[in-house]
Amino acid sequence: MAPIGPVPPLVLRVLVLACLLISTAYAQCPIYTNYANARHEPFSTGRWNLSSMRPIPPCRTFYSEDMEREVERIKGVIVDPDLFRLFENAWPSTLDTTIGWKGLSNVTEKEDGQMEDPAELSFVITGDIEAMWLRDSANQLQAYVSLLKADGGKDNSSLASLFRGAINLQARYILGDPFCNAFQSPDESGIPHHSSQNSDKISPPYDYFRVFSCQWELDSVASFLQLSHDYYSATGDWEFFGKHNWTRAVTKVLNITQSMTIDSYAEDGTWQHTPYTYCAPYGGTPINDCNGSPHRGNIGLVRSFQRPSDDSCIYQYLIPSNMMYSVALNLSSSIMAQLEPSTSQPLTARMRNMSTSIRTGIETHAVINDPIHGPIYAYEIDGYGSVILMDDPNLPSLLSAPFIGYTPASNPVYQNTRARILSRSNPYYAWGPAISGVASMHTRPGKPWPMANIMTILTSDDDDEIVANLKWLVQSTDGLGLMHESVDAHDAGVWSRQWFSWANGLFGVMVLDLEKRRPHLLKMGFQ
Ligand SMILES: *[C@@H]1O[C@H](CO)[C@@H](O)[C@H](O)[C@H]1NC(C)=O
Ligand SMILES: *[C@@H]1O[C@H](CO)[C@@H](O)[C@H](O)[C@H]1NC(C)=O
Ligand SMILES: *[C@@H]1O[C@H](CO)[C@@H](O)[C@H](O)[C@H]1NC(C)=O
Ligand SMILES: *[C@@H]1O[C@H](CO)[C@@H](O)[C@H](O)[C@H]1NC(C)=O
Ligand SMILES: *[C@@H]1O[C@H](CO)[C@@H](O)[C@H](O)[C@H]1NC(C)=O
Ligand SMILES: *[C@@H]1O[C@H](CO)[C@@H](O)[C@H](O)[C@H]1NC(C)=O
Ligand SMILES: *[C@@H]1O[C@H](CO)[C@@H](O)[C@H](O)[C@H]1NC(C)=O
Repeated sequence: MAPIGPVPPLVLRVLVLACLLISTAYAQCPIYTNYANARHEPFSTGRWNLSSMRPIPPCRTFYSEDMEREVERIKGVIVDPDLFRLFENAWPSTLDTTIGWKGLSNVTEKEDGQMEDPAELSFVITGDIEAMWLRDSANQLQAYVSLLKADGGKDNSSLASLFRGAINLQARYILGDPFCNAFQSPDESGIPHHSSQNSDKISPPYDYFRVFSCQWELDSVASFLQLSHDYYSATGDWEFFGKHNWTRAVTKVLNITQSMTIDSYAEDGTWQHTPYTYCAPYGGTPINDCNGSPHRGNIGLVRSFQRPSDDSCIYQYLIPSNMMYSVALNLSSSIMAQLEPSTSQPLTARMRNMSTSIRTGIETHAVINDPIHGPIYAYEIDGYGSVILMDDPNLPSLLSAPFIGYTPASNPVYQNTRARILSRSNPYYAWGPAISGVASMHTRPGKPWPMANIMTILTSDDDDEIVANLKWLVQSTDGLGLMHESVDAHDAGVWSRQWFSWANGLFGVMVLDLEKRRPHLLKMGFQ
């Protein structure tokens, strides 16, 4: 627990001790949704007087000594007290608050009659919703890749074990409901399931007690591959991927993404449906019996019914998600190459083939000539020439193309796209005295998402641009000291989601990245 002040009076010390004792017994661990909605002492000493937001140690959901050491180290790196407080609150958020359960799978009999070894499982909730999103959980854990190291596959308290557990559980989710994006806890956890009570009209149907929501978002399965690659690249442990159901899950991902590339019309002209269709309960797109508008098929691109914000796409060839999937397939194909015998590597080849086809599809069909900015990437297309030119702040976004590894930031098409996204030419750009940046239809125009400001910094070499965005981030947390989902450009007191762990983790990643790339900026004041 952080000190309350110099030599607290006895009464206070007794009170603190009593608090600690009670919470050690877990009697009083506050519900973090409520905790993150109120301010807690000690406040930061800067102008913004930011709350302390880490739960007290006995109430944290996962302990990593390496992370604690890193937070301590960064204290000596960042000069501005408010910027450091943000880092200290935000970066640990996933480990502190969202590891819902960690344990082993129930052993089952395999097809060959042998018993499967128990598999590590990690249930990582998104924050204020008690469900595991494929996308969020992969990104939440990615915040700690810099700390991840091989552990010999044995230590169940390591970060590596946490990653393995999430990969195993994601593989299970994908094999069960490959088109779905968010899931309830595994049975082994004993955490009760409540019906997610969705009134959406989705085919194929799914079980509301097992699945939290079933939106077909291409970046969900890309996230599974990204998480796999993150683990492999940090630990070198490819043998792990041969132990459980990883290869089958990847095959499933290849199969369903392939099935989402078909044309809206068969050769003979009959209208054909994709294997997944969706109509939101409140109407709107997609139209045509829940299929969306017609799409030209077999152009390399994969359809996504929803965006990473979980809103419906207007056109289903969602370019940032195709970028991310192309990259993730290519990166994780090197795991598959280790698992398949060197003489015959059909899955590895299939992953690489699809990665290349998608990239070709993007470069052929999604680069559009803008009268002001020149050639730019479209956000969504239908393959017939209709395009949506905008960006959404959630990731993957067009803004994040270099961060997800699709292209170097120096690519002129990316630079043109970026300039347009961060200007009033982007229909979702929002500006005001509190914060300026990219807003989303998910939370209505006029409310930038701090996540996009973070991504602006991560893709910038321009100190003025970085400093402007850091300033907006520091001044717009409403004294709470955490990243919100959206913030009203004109009033930092109006925001959404007090507990959004992924955005918090990404803030930490951005600070650690700045320390490497532009360390002098962490010596500045933001008062
Ligand atoms: C910081 O906030 C606390 C609680 O809201 C308040 O009591 C205190 O006066 C503030 N300090 C400054 C320097 O604004
Ligand atoms: C690790 O395994 C031991 C023995 O099975 C168990 O008691 C402990 O709770 C586990 N720890 C974690 C962090 O999973
Ligand atoms: C792997 O797949 C088999 C067959 O579907 C299943 O019985 C087993 O539970 C799966 N393993 C895990 C860890 O989910
Ligand atoms: C695990 O397996 C045991 C024994 O087969 C069974 O009684 C129990 O219900 C299973 N638990 C879950 C969560 O599947
Ligand atoms: C993938 O598709 C192939 C060909 O249709 C099929 O044989 C295989 O069982 C599918 N695999 C999975 C995991 O869905
Ligand atoms: C992918 O495989 C298909 C079918 O085998 C082939 O026609 C196509 O040229 C391949 N594409 C690439 C980019 O390798
Ligand atoms: C896949 O990765 C390799 C090695 O980094 C690279 O040379 C190749 O261009 C990548 N392919 C695609 C389609 O991104």
